[in-house]
Amino acid sequence: MKLSHFKMAVVTSLSVMVTQAFAGQEGLTYRKAIQPLWEQKCKMCHGASSPGLAEFNENKSKYKALNKGPRMDSYPALTHFVGWPDTGAMMRRLDDGKHTKDGKPGNMYLYLGANEEERQNNLSVFKGWVSEAGWILKKFPDLTREDLGKMNVLE
Ligand code: HEC
Repeated sequence: MKLSHFKMAVVTSLSVMVTQAFAGQEGLTYRKAIQPLWEQKCKMCHGASSPGLAEFNENKSKYKALNKGPRMDSYPALTHFVGWPDTGAMMRRLDDGKHTKDGKPGNMYLYLGANEEERQNNLSVFKGWVSEAGWILKKFPDLTREDLGKMNVLE
């Protein structure tokens, strides 16, 4: 095995271990649980070379064609898709279909893992960050102050 392949295998199995250790827990922090998972599963399309949300919204079709989503490569950038201004977007996109209006998974659910077990595992890590009670898919006009208070999103 080439050294680079060996390193990849070690990194991959370490990150699987990390997310398994967090699965099903509540009160998770961005730094410990979400950042490493995000780097593994989301960074390639939402990283530093992606546009900010405003720029993305102004030129959506261009960025969709490039398979670039809006940038979410920091704690504040990612929380924009949880609480405000893109309220509930992260939950709507990552949900497995149990909370969506049409019963279908959000279109980013697929990227949570290579198989259903890994996807469920990693979904539970995102839920453990926001909190099960705060996993609310509403858009801003429907969100209450109480709903917002349930979204933990600890840094
Ligand atoms: C292969 C590329 C790719 C990967 C991997 C990916 N995304 Fe996306 N994502 C996109 C693209 C392209 C869009 C914009 C098109 C759309 O709305 O579906 C998007 C849109 C989104 C949106 C909606 C943003 C908005 O304001 O409309 C969220 C939230 C999101 N992604 C979260 C994630 C998370 C979290 C992960 C990791 C688990 C992830 N994505 C992995 C390509 C990707």
